[in-house]
Amino acid sequence: MLSEIRGTELEEMNSFHPNRLVRTKYENILENLDSGIILFDSDGVLAFVNVQMAKLLGVSRKSLTGCTLMELLRHPQITRFKRKKILRLFRETIFHRKRFHELLDEYGKSWLITMTYGDQMEGDFLISVKDVSDFKQIEQTAYQNDKLAMLGKISASIAHEIRNPLTSIRGFIQLLRPHLISLGKDEYARIILAEIDRANDIIYEFLNSSKPSAPQTRIISVASLLKEVVLLTESEALMKGSQIFLHLDESESTYVSVDVKQIKQVILNLIKNALDAIENELEEHGKGMIRIGMQHNDKQISIVITDNGGGMDQNTLNHLFNPFFTTKEGGTGLGLSVSYRIIKNHGGSIAVKSDIGTGTEFILTLPKVERTS
Ligand SMILES: Nc1ncnc2c1ncn2[C@@H]1O[C@H](COP(=O)(O)OP(=O)(O)OP(=O)(O)O)[C@@H](O)[C@H]1O
Ligand SMILES: [Mg+2]
Repeated sequence: MLSEIRGTELEEMNSFHPNRLVRTKYENILENLDSGIILFDSDGVLAFVNVQMAKLLGVSRKSLTGCTLMELLRHPQITRFKRKKILRLFRETIFHRKRFHELLDEYGKSWLITMTYGDQMEGDFLISVKDVSDFKQIEQTAYQNDKLAMLGKISASIAHEIRNPLTSIRGFIQLLRPHLISLGKDEYARIILAEIDRANDIIYEFLNSSKPSAPQTRIISVASLLKEVVLLTESEALMKGSQIFLHLDESESTYVSVDVKQIKQVILNLIKNALDAIENELEEHGKGMIRIGMQHNDKQISIVITDNGGGMDQNTLNHLFNPFFTTKEGGTGLGLSVSYRIIKNHGGSIAVKSDIGTGTEFILTLPKVERTS
């Protein structure tokens, strides 16, 4: 009896030993860290896995205890996609001695995976996984801004180079005009002048949208903006076998302060892209549908444009807003990079969700304003 009491007392004393408290504290921290951690001991047996890692693997922690790597790979709850990624990581670590890996998961999130092994680990093998999607996003935006600044400079110099000869040609045609009239060919002069003016207009438009110019804003209701754009594109959509559905809540009046011409250009670019994506898939899909709707909160208004076209793969999504990136034969790849620039100049943002075979959703978000009058 006495020895039993002594035993319990001893256990209690042990559990209150400062070292024990420190250990539990560190274990708690490791277990609940927002990075995933998994440790294999020198026999290749899983010795520790924290909550986040079990979540990432999609399995319960209990079912992982005592697993070897091989057993982990055969675990019935681990998807094929994850199994393939784990195998690839181990191959690269073992054959190429790579310690840092970056990978994209099935939802487009970026993860940084660090393998720690060798002398400092005394034969153990530690793997940590960290979500770096936000860093990647910032990196991508910075890279995008650099490219767009360069695009602005290149286009300004090209426009300058093209405009000068056009101005000389225009002058000389005007000089030649009396001779052409005397030959009964005034029509030629008229066509040449009109075409030169058209070329100048195109350059002007392009420069205006690709240069980081400040928007000429006015306050407009989003509903009327969308109605006008749909009116412009409806017939083209019908000709291409698609239909545009505009979902507006007429009871709500929401206003934005925008350069109407520029924002219309952005929405037109998105609708044109949606029409192209549907056109490619029409035989498989039957009816092409573009849905345009809007949502808003106290501060922002989002215009949502959804299509049931072919969707995009991860590579296309990664390069979507890069100038000159196109997958189309006749495309310039400027539509989305110019749109991105315009929306950014308005203090807004563009987000995309896309699935191959299902379609694409673009979400334009702009700051909301109160109507003053
Ligand atoms: N709604 C969409 N569905 C599927 N793919 C899309 C969609 N929108 C854009 N894309 C992809 O993004 C690429 C870039 O689009 P962007 O508008 O910048 O250029 P483009 O349409 O190819 O050329 P341009 O706009 O000059 O005619 C497209 O080539 C296409 O692959
Ligand atoms: Mg386009």
